[in-house]
Amino acid sequence: MKFFLDTGNVDEIKRIVKLGLVDGVTTNPSLIAKEGRVFKDVIKEITSIVSGPVSAEVVSLDVNGMLSEAHEIAQWAPNVVIKLPMTEAGLEATHHLHKEGIKTNVTLIFSIAQGLMAAKAGASYISPFVGRLDDIGADGMALVSGLRQVLDQYGLASEIIAASIRHIGHVEEAALAGAHIATIPGSLLPALWKHPLTDSGIDRFLKDWEKVPKL
Ligand code: E4P
Repeated sequence: MKFFLDTGNVDEIKRIVKLGLVDGVTTNPSLIAKEGRVFKDVIKEITSIVSGPVSAEVVSLDVNGMLSEAHEIAQWAPNVVIKLPMTEAGLEATHHLHKEGIKTNVTLIFSIAQGLMAAKAGASYISPFVGRLDDIGADGMALVSGLRQVLDQYGLASEIIAASIRHIGHVEEAALAGAHIATIPGSLLPALWKHPLTDSGIDRFLKDWEKVPKL
């Protein structure tokens, strides 16, 4: 499974890139707003740090507006991916961009029907929001495994990005459910490599090492 970072924070990205764990980055308008920087500057900087796909989201709600934003954003870097909402206009724009060879990520997917539509329209990536489904008492991860089954069954080329990831369990379950990618908040990622038994194990080894006779 590939790991994307779900952040607009360049410092977070630089830190995790050093570990070889960043296969791509996803952003959204809320994440960009947190940074207090110009959208284009943030995306251009991220695409210069990460060679994998970097999703940048359009904010227009009509097809022409989406396409005009998409064409502008697509010029910022070769690895930029246009993120579009799961609406009728979003599907039409996705299909148009697909025919032009521009990569897309259809976001805010909450049902198998929506994921299937986006995949058929030619989305490069589809983003089911696991955490937001769990928040309303639904089973977010069942959507991921269902989408994987449907994509495989019909030979559809979209990759599933398990999004709205809230905790380590989500990442592990996304891997088991067959998500191609999990997009993980930069603040959550360290929790993936930390374990209390690792920390206490290191402490014990260092204490015992003090008892070893030194030259
Ligand atoms: C994915 O592309 C979105 O940016 C993100 O995962 C949304 O997560 P949230 O539900 O925590 O806002």
